[in-house]
Amino acid sequence: MTAKIIDGKGIAADLRGKVADAVHRLARDRGIVPGLAVVLVGNNPASESYVASKMKMTVGSGMRSFDHRLPKETSEAELLGLIARLNADPSVHGILVQLPLPAQIDPHKIIAAVDPAKDVDGFSPVNAGRLCAGLPALAPCTPVGCILLAKTVQPSLAGLEAVVIGRSNIVGKPLAQLLLAENATVTVAHSKTRELAAVCRRADLLFAAVGRPEMVRRDWVKPGATVIDVGVNRVTPAGGRSRIVGDVAFAEVAEVAGAISPVPGGVGPMTIACLLANTVRAACALAGLREPAFGQPPAEDRE
Ligand code: GUN
Repeated sequence: MTAKIIDGKGIAADLRGKVADAVHRLARDRGIVPGLAVVLVGNNPASESYVASKMKMTVGSGMRSFDHRLPKETSEAELLGLIARLNADPSVHGILVQLPLPAQIDPHKIIAAVDPAKDVDGFSPVNAGRLCAGLPALAPCTPVGCILLAKTVQPSLAGLEAVVIGRSNIVGKPLAQLLLAENATVTVAHSKTRELAAVCRRADLLFAAVGRPEMVRRDWVKPGATVIDVGVNRVTPAGGRSRIVGDVAFAEVAEVAGAISPVPGGVGPMTIACLLANTVRAACALAGLREPAFGQPPAEDRE
């Protein structure tokens, strides 16, 4: 069997088109231009390039982008001060503080300081709790992107065995909650999981979010399963040029899976598209307007 390749780039472009249409209607009918503030502390090269593409796509979809670059020595109090100003600024509808932060700043304190109504990353304890409780929430962008990709292959995830490898607050945990909201049967595997390959082989839907290059091998995958690869790992073969690979050994897994998302060109472009969608949703909610769903799972659809 040769897997269908899930075209994250194309699916993300479609979603950005829907976001741009919604932005156009908001400006035309209500005079609202959604604004996204991105805060970058220090100059981590990976964060810089990620932030640059976020800003480009924000402006490309008709929204305002506010760029806040702070030196790596910035204190926690200074960053909290900026967040308080952004929380109070009516032209800012979404706030994203790029992680990781320098060691002198406690990320939990910063995340908790962002107004939950503007928390387009969906990382705040309020939004994480709302997601767990099945209440409407701004949900983290990468996990939402994973669900949207899986649903292009399997429109209903109800009753499917889903295995998530990785239990981070950014991906693994919220992804498990979103899968539960879709009525999947969910296992979260992690570094202490025993018989990991056997656990993964049960999955109809396998999500790899561990940051270990090509860890998921062909014999970990049930024939016909949908495999979504969240990993972004730079590897440099001896004497060769560096390249980006996922957490899944793509070529060999593609021989057994039913569908697989590539790296690059899978989950990555979806994350930014979902961030733009969250910013529009936040702008609508802050104005008391009905939010466009952009394919996100409904809240409270569980038994
Ligand atoms: N660093 C890596 N991924 C992310 C993300 O999705 N949001 C933020 N704020 N920082 C990140």
